[in-house]
Amino acid sequence: MGQEAGSTRMSIAPASGKLAVLLPGLGAVATTLIGGVEAVKRGLAKPIGSLTQMGTIRLGKRTEHRSPLIRELVPLASLEDLCFGGWDVFPDSAFDSAAHAKVIEPALLEQVRAPLEAIRPMAAVFSPEYVKRLHGTHVKQAPTKRALGEALREDIRRFLKENGCSRAVMVWCASTEIYIERSAVHASLAAFEKGLDENDPAIAPSMIYAWAALKEGVPFANGAPNLTVDVPAIVELARKQRLPIAGKDFKTGQTLMKTVIAPMLKARMLGLVGWFSTNILGNRDGEVLDDPGSFKTKEVSKLSVLEHILQPHLYPDLYGHFDHKVSIHYYRPRGDNKEGWDNIDIAGWLGYPMQIKVNFLCRDSILAAPVALDLALFMDLAARAGLSGIQEWLSFYFKSPMVAEGLYPEHDLFIQLQKLKNTLRHLAGEELITHLGLDYYEH
Ligand SMILES: NC(=O)c1ccc[n+]([C@@H]2O[C@H](COP(=O)([O-])OP(=O)(O)OC[C@H]3O[C@@H](n4cnc5c(N)ncnc54)[C@H](O)[C@@H]3O)[C@@H](O)[C@H]2O)c1
Repeated sequence: MGQEAGSTRMSIAPASGKLAVLLPGLGAVATTLIGGVEAVKRGLAKPIGSLTQMGTIRLGKRTEHRSPLIRELVPLASLEDLCFGGWDVFPDSAFDSAAHAKVIEPALLEQVRAPLEAIRPMAAVFSPEYVKRLHGTHVKQAPTKRALGEALREDIRRFLKENGCSRAVMVWCASTEIYIERSAVHASLAAFEKGLDENDPAIAPSMIYAWAALKEGVPFANGAPNLTVDVPAIVELARKQRLPIAGKDFKTGQTLMKTVIAPMLKARMLGLVGWFSTNILGNRDGEVLDDPGSFKTKEVSKLSVLEHILQPHLYPDLYGHFDHKVSIHYYRPRGDNKEGWDNIDIAGWLGYPMQIKVNFLCRDSILAAPVALDLALFMDLAARAGLSGIQEWLSFYFKSPMVAEGLYPEHDLFIQLQKLKNTLRHLAGEELITHLGLDYYEH
């Protein structure tokens, strides 16, 4: 970055003109985001859960009493300037899809009917090989994966033109794809583009969207646990295009809790014997995750968190042998209102056992929508500030944060928040906050 932290304001292009928020997957999360933004714009509801809309940031010393809203410190796109679009394998409008998802209550949904009805998904790049439980028909046909990517690029250009947008961001809100491991085709951009020509099976639809977005100068954030942009080939493309990327998997319910409770256990040197997590949910995401291939992708994402936070190699006596189980059960009657249970077996002084039980009755998409909104706005900010490649400061929003090769991810929610806020202070030329505070006591 070539400047001292907190010395001068970085040059950030203004947020002028309309910002296209392009969403592959117009399902429960995407329509709760769009319907929510429309409701907030009309003063019908508050943007609760969104740091960009409600969060403040302390600047300088505690004695200075400076705590502006984050959106007053850095130039973010305003909700009025957002223009939503997307793709789906079903042709339903955002209104019909929201009605099907049953997250936003009918009375509120009715009040935002017009803007949601106007959003019709573009035909998806999709193959049931990658999401076994879905059989949509609103799908693009082309002989190669490169041709499908080119069709998406055309969609992006057309959307920007037709809607008079000055720039765009893409946030993946589509279904979780089957588990794919990194392979040779992901190792470099050249190998990846050859794979697009040769229809390599290790290139999933989500990767084609990411490739198309970056080729069109559009930042990409990944809300699902798919590999997608977490491969060297796409990181290389992002660096080449000087664009930000981020992922993966929105951190919303059970993992949000885990990344608060586990750091507490470690902070107090309490041992962990076992952590049993289970969920029931009945939305389409739950149905997709009922397939072992898609569940494996989610499971890997959910399981990695504890190892990284607890660092068993540093604390073998406390965390050397804990059991960690995660399961998700599709249970239709529950709809989007997921219920998560955690049973945590811990050990205290002299090894005495204790238990913590957490029963989180949450609403999946109500938790995810503000995360998707913040990511769209912060990714746009990052692009205008010239930040490119992996945006680790947005780890706060992800279950499996992407990090540079050789780094372990930081999962502790409050370290992530501090990193996010310090990045904003840095962008704004404000002093970073270390919480040392000795100077308050020097007389
Ligand atoms: N709290 C949360 O809700 C939460 C948290 C973390 C991650 N996620 C992830 O976010 C994603 C969206 O969740 P949701 O509840 O909205 O699911 P959903 O099933 O309601 O919506 C996903 C939509 O994506 C569409 N789709 C699938 N493949 C597509 C493709 N290749 N191109 C375009 N559209 C495609 C489906 O038809 C569906 O309408 C899922 O991957 C989910 O795992 C959600």
